[in-house]
Amino acid sequence: MEILRAEQVHYSYQTKYQTIEAVRGVSYSFETGNMYAIVGESGSGKSTFLSLLAGLDLPTKGNVYVEGEDMAVLNRDSYRREKASVVYQSFNLFPLLTAQENVMFPIELKGTGKREAAKKAAELIERVGLREQVLYQFPQMMSGGEQQRLAIARAMAAGGKIILADEPTGNLDSENQQNIVQLLKEAAHTMEFAVIVITHNPEVAAEADYVLRMRDGKLIN
Ligand SMILES: Nc1ncnc2c1ncn2[C@@H]1O[C@H](COP(=O)(O)OP(=O)(O)OP(=O)(O)O)[C@@H](O)[C@H]1O
Ligand SMILES: [Mg+2]
Repeated sequence: MEILRAEQVHYSYQTKYQTIEAVRGVSYSFETGNMYAIVGESGSGKSTFLSLLAGLDLPTKGNVYVEGEDMAVLNRDSYRREKASVVYQSFNLFPLLTAQENVMFPIELKGTGKREAAKKAAELIERVGLREQVLYQFPQMMSGGEQQRLAIARAMAAGGKIILADEPTGNLDSENQQNIVQLLKEAAHTMEFAVIVITHNPEVAAEADYVLRMRDGKLIN
């Protein structure tokens, strides 16, 4: 099922001295149940494009549609709270919350009570392959791979159907990279997420159902 669609999307950064056309006419349809990899040289526009899919900004030209609705008329804060989760290389976990509380956070945001949220969070933490003992640990006490799993558990907890990840495996050793990719793949194939991952790693891209190649702000294929 189509969940996200980019139609002739452009994005320009306006700096003091110049206009940088980072994304130049990208059209693509993303469906739930698939994992997509976005690859391309540094500066080719990958992160910019992802930030448009995340609703962090609007295209300067063209449109992004979420389930057929134009992002420009949506409440983009609710979009990110309810439908799409972004996972960054630096994880963006809440440092003052325990692992379990990090995952409870989006669940409680939706109005679920504490006990129920705690239970769901514990289930998701188990699902991403973390040991029970991390429940009460703070992120900085966890390894990079563990933190990344936790960030993915939190993205799954948000109740949306879209996971957007910018270099989620960038800092990890190759075994952990593969683990994280398998986890994202499982989210797509068994939990029906649309997973969109930017990666420089060909082994990660090889695991995707579809690979989008960007060059100079455009998709080439
Ligand atoms: N905040 C900004 N202000 C001005 N120009 C920017 C800004 N962010 C990115 N750019 C420019 O937009 C273009 C695309 O950048 P983007 O970050 O999307 O590339 P990328 O493909 O994600 O690269 P990388 O693989 O290095 O992360 C580049 O030319 C970059 O210099
Ligand atoms: Mg980038």
